[in-house]
Amino acid sequence: MASQDRSKFLPHADPAAFPDSSYVLGDLLAERFTCRAYRPEPVEEAVIGRMLELAQMSASWCNTQPWNVIVTQGEATERFRAALFAEASSDGHEGQPGIDYPRSFPGVHGERRREVGWQLYDSVGVRKGDRAASREQALENFRLFGAPHVALICCERELGAYGAIDCGVYLGTLLLAAQSLGLGMTPQAALAEHSALIRRHFAVPDNLMFVVGASFGHADQDHAANSFRSRRAPVGENARLVKA
Ligand SMILES: Cc1cc2nc3c(=O)[nH]c(=O)nc-3n(C[C@H](O)[C@H](O)[C@H](O)COP(=O)(O)O)c2cc1C
Repeated sequence: MASQDRSKFLPHADPAAFPDSSYVLGDLLAERFTCRAYRPEPVEEAVIGRMLELAQMSASWCNTQPWNVIVTQGEATERFRAALFAEASSDGHEGQPGIDYPRSFPGVHGERRREVGWQLYDSVGVRKGDRAASREQALENFRLFGAPHVALICCERELGAYGAIDCGVYLGTLLLAAQSLGLGMTPQAALAEHSALIRRHFAVPDNLMFVVGASFGHADQDHAANSFRSRRAPVGENARLVKA
């Protein structure tokens, strides 16, 4: 079935039918993108506080609120960036994420992953087959893309996959909170390869597991890495409305 046909499984939106709040949210969602280059100026502490206050309203299973978040600024970001980059760029580092990375990206998931990867590489001028240049771009993760801050989201290990889901819900809210404050943000599962370093560096207790990070700051809007937008499949490819 062609993807255009699948979208017909869901009714089309009549713009007049929805409350204004859905457009406020729609604008935030449409404007947000994964920022991959930042200006160096720090974000004011009050703005970071507001962002965290908004994200704190996230839903969680039984209201457990299992996210435990370390946020860096100033010298703390610089010291972490230096340690992270040193480990990531050293030969033979074998990452050990707290949650296993996908073993493969089957079918359409692999296609979407490749597409967005090439969008990024094209935007910064990395050509197919240029392994040195693609590795250099991948290493930007461990320079935190030049961001002045990073949020490191950990979770009570005992809560297992559902605790991690709650942290994912939190990350989603945090992304929108950052967007609502005019900030750029990069969700980063790549940091999980360095869970042991994060544990040592920030004295994370054993009962917590690192889940995902998010670098943030003021987006460098003129940087080539921020010049493309990822695509979404039509809703009908991911969801179906069952009526009988
Ligand atoms: C849980 C999660 C982990 C991610 N990890 C990384 C990462 O390590 N590095 C990176 O550059 N982008 C990362 N991303 C960003 C995705 O590539 C991005 O969300 C996706 O391509 C869609 O693009 P958009 O966010 O610009 O809409 C991550 C996103 C999520 C939700």
